[in-house]
Amino acid sequence: MKVAVIGFGMMGRQIAQVFAQHGHEVSVTDENRAAVKSGLDEVAHGPYGIESAVAKAKITREEGTKALQQIRPAADLKEACNSADLVIEAVYEHLLLKQEIFGKLESAAPESALLASNTSTLTVTKIGSKLSKKNRLLGMHFFNPAQITKLVEIVKTDQTSVEAIQRAGMIVETIGKTAIMVRDEPGFIANRLGLTLFMEASKLLEEDTAKIRDIELAMKLGYNHPMGPFELADFVGLDTRLRNLEALFQATGDEKWIPPKALREMVNQGYLGDPSRRKGSKGGYREFFTTR
Ligand SMILES: NC(=O)c1ccc[n+]([C@@H]2O[C@H](COP(=O)([O-])OP(=O)(O)OC[C@H]3O[C@@H](n4cnc5c(N)ncnc54)[C@H](O)[C@@H]3O)[C@@H](O)[C@H]2O)c1
Repeated sequence: MKVAVIGFGMMGRQIAQVFAQHGHEVSVTDENRAAVKSGLDEVAHGPYGIESAVAKAKITREEGTKALQQIRPAADLKEACNSADLVIEAVYEHLLLKQEIFGKLESAAPESALLASNTSTLTVTKIGSKLSKKNRLLGMHFFNPAQITKLVEIVKTDQTSVEAIQRAGMIVETIGKTAIMVRDEPGFIANRLGLTLFMEASKLLEEDTAKIRDIELAMKLGYNHPMGPFELADFVGLDTRLRNLEALFQATGDEKWIPPKALREMVNQGYLGDPSRRKGSKGGYREFFTTR
């Protein structure tokens, strides 16, 4: 199968790698040429990249080499999509930007291609509002790091065809993941639940009811979560987390999603989360709160 990935940032590169490791041809594009270069480097040598998968004996060296060859940078969106069976958009969480991209996909991709967005919080219906035929529009929401996480949320709009949903479900199986289905409502399932936890954790911190360490341990030791809510936010990227909350607030009008003041302050001051994952970041929650 041929897959086109639009936006080769944190998620685009993970998604591309997953498909390549499962034998699919992947064409990638990003408006920022440097992102393509650093993305290919990360796919090869990053913490969850091919080299690490070979070292951990998850794949053989030959499979790793083949997977790397399966990912090809394209000059632009048109070239990336021209023979795609599936297009996955993974650009910034910004409605107008995504709408513009989907507007171009209609003519750039073959009529038979599925057109999917990896959006976390926007509604797929709005993202695809410029498409004249919307039966092949859907959400395919991967989880960070996609090389490890087993879940993909498949998001069905009112106009997505049953056939498109079935095809997407089969595709998810071919890459060794489990699909869950959700109607196109802001936040879908996982982020509506996950961001609720983050908002409550932020309130506990803001009210000084508890410190970061204790909030993290409550979820890690008490609920067996692999990461605490702040560690997870640092892992995802605080700029992305902020955009997700802004998008949820905008989509629902519900004040419970108004981003915490501290999160906005952190992003404004260059604390974008884990510096090993967000280049140039000054750090995440722990670093920011120890400087205060
Ligand atoms: N970070 C996460 O943990 C996570 C998890 C699941 C879903 N998502 C979603 O995935 C999407 C991407 O998030 P990310 O964290 O990878 O963001 P990111 O900032 O790491 O990457 C976005 C990429 O899009 C590129 N881009 C911007 N405009 C473009 C255009 N017009 N054409 C081509 N490329 C363009 C940027 O140059 C950048 O490389 C968002 O919708 C986000 O909500 C993120």
